[in-house]
Amino acid sequence: MTKRCLTALMMVLIMCLPHISQGAPSPVRIGLCIYNMSDPFVNSISDAIIREAGTRAEMILQDAKNNQNLQNSQVEALLDSGVDGLILNPVDRMASVYLIRMAKARNVPVVLINREPLREDLVLYDKAYYVGIDPSEQGRLVGEMAAGMFLADPQLDRNGDGTMQLILFKGEPGHQDAELRTLATLDALAQSGVQVTLLEEVVAQWERRLGQQRMAALLTNLGDEVECVISNNDEMALGAVEALKAAGWFTGRRWIPIFGIDAIPSALTALEQGTLAGTVINDGEGIARASLQLTELLIAGQPISTANFPWPLENKVLYLKSEPVKRQTR
Ligand code: BGC
Repeated sequence: MTKRCLTALMMVLIMCLPHISQGAPSPVRIGLCIYNMSDPFVNSISDAIIREAGTRAEMILQDAKNNQNLQNSQVEALLDSGVDGLILNPVDRMASVYLIRMAKARNVPVVLINREPLREDLVLYDKAYYVGIDPSEQGRLVGEMAAGMFLADPQLDRNGDGTMQLILFKGEPGHQDAELRTLATLDALAQSGVQVTLLEEVVAQWERRLGQQRMAALLTNLGDEVECVISNNDEMALGAVEALKAAGWFTGRRWIPIFGIDAIPSALTALEQGTLAGTVINDGEGIARASLQLTELLIAGQPISTANFPWPLENKVLYLKSEPVKRQTR
């Protein structure tokens, strides 16, 4: 480079310097690791986090496509690139321990969402937290809603045997929301005094398509026997609705109560249209706001208190509130 070129370059750099030093501080960089972006509920959480972050934080979104090995390498690459924090929705909650250890080794805070790590894994690192919703409460709410509807409307007991013939759709086995919602739902039904015959407990992996396929197969075997369907989430419930519609239900007086959990927009539409009897709010917006704020506080090294974090944390775990949403009439 000639001397003149060098001088010109120096001049440009010097002219730029004041702007650089006076500019806004660069936003923190947060890795957002989602287990599977084709899951509508977690997709909505991810959207809400990115929206909430705005220009305050740079979010680096990674979709693990339901593959834990892929997620492990995504987290490693994010840590190598020097992210300031991680919001992590693990593919397999049992694998969280590995990811928590990786984050700890780099002293990077990690807030897990929606798929709850074991408590013994969470205590391994003081900058590891969990934000989710109490699945037992959600399961109880949906069970109570179904029992209440059954008790209030004798016509729902179509064969008049004083027993609810139930099909229960379960999400992914091992997921706390599938296991604990199922237990709490059955428990709430038992507590309500409604006699229940569990015709089938079907695993449909949280998916609408599988919900529809499994329900269609069950209808072939069980015919009109089923009197109520309760699902661990709305997607599977809406799949069951599709299969029932195809079998001639929801026309004229042929109605059967179907319940889900999440209160996703398509479920609220189904509630209005009368095909879904009820759902329970799974506060994705709340998970988004709380997990982002927590991550930012941890990155800033601030002690978490009720003054800067308005949600109730217990042992580094935050459970947001749930609420039932039901149709008033049928
Ligand atoms: C939701 C499901 C979702 C799952 C993903 C649950 O809390 O109810 O709809 O598929 O989380 O982890």
